[in-house]
Amino acid sequence: MTRSFTRLAWTAATFTYLLIILGAIVRITGSGLGCGEHWPLCNGKLLPPLDLPTMIEYGHRLAAAAVSGLVLALAAYAWWLQRGAGSGERYPPVKTAYIALGLLVVQVLLGAVTVKLSLPPWTIILHLGTAMLLLATLILAARLTPGALTPGASPGIAGARYSRAGLLALVLGFITVLLGALTANLGAASACLGFPLCNGQVIPAGNYLQHVHWVHRLMAYTLFAYVVWWAVRSSDGAARAAPTAPGRPRGRGHGGVGRPGAGDTLTRPTIRSRSARPAGARDSPRGPRCRCRR
Ligand code: HEM
Repeated sequence: MTRSFTRLAWTAATFTYLLIILGAIVRITGSGLGCGEHWPLCNGKLLPPLDLPTMIEYGHRLAAAAVSGLVLALAAYAWWLQRGAGSGERYPPVKTAYIALGLLVVQVLLGAVTVKLSLPPWTIILHLGTAMLLLATLILAARLTPGALTPGASPGIAGARYSRAGLLALVLGFITVLLGALTANLGAASACLGFPLCNGQVIPAGNYLQHVHWVHRLMAYTLFAYVVWWAVRSSDGAARAAPTAPGRPRGRGHGGVGRPGAGDTLTRPTIRSRSARPAGARDSPRGPRCRCRR
């Protein structure tokens, strides 16, 4: 049953990813007003005559309808599983499915406002940011699932503590994406020519468009350097924590996540709670049994 939830969450995440690419095609081809300023109809019709911009914008809306169906089904399924579990406790995948539904409503309304107001940059940037949050939430719902809908069981990666390094990478990535949207939608893409500098300058002396573009690049350089540093530090730590004898666990919690240089990953391994252990299961002499995600 929970496998179906995982599959549904992955399907919704995959369709959302494809829809995000289609949204980018809408913007890049200048098809944002392919349906005029009409919403929910397209050029005042349910089935409009299709020229190329209309086809692209209409396709984006149809794909959004498919994603809406999937996210709605996921939330309904989560609600049904929660009801069947008969517990007052709300499980993490159920929460994430509800959050995804809330984000979807915001996203569709932002899409509507975007066309009604003839594509102002601020709504497009919010539309892109919400799309990213929706995708992340659906991926989280899919990753959280195994065993998490059983009362007393460990909630998969939900019981894990998130590493600060991973969260920082996520925040940097999100800000960089939003600045990218700002650069594109303000028409600042060509304000900085040349690479890696902006028009050959470390601090561009020009107008605000150059500054927006340059800040986006600086964030991207920072993100790149940070991820390389993180990967090197993690692989160093993993090598140091490699087993010295057969069967010996690797450092703290199979990888010692959280210690500097010790195989840091986005999440830490999950220890199954005592109440969730099968009857008769005992801890090993080295500590509690670990149900680690690899
Ligand atoms: C789950 C639902 C949706 C997702 C995930 C989504 C995602 C996106 C993304 C990622 C972009 C590109 C933004 C950029 O590159 O800056 C985009 C563009 C766009 N979306 Fe959506 N969208 C959704 C629903 C809708 C709906 C319901 C409408 C209805 C009007 C809509 C209208 C638009 C328009 C007009 C653009 C182009 C804006 C421009 O020309 O720059 N979207 N969408």
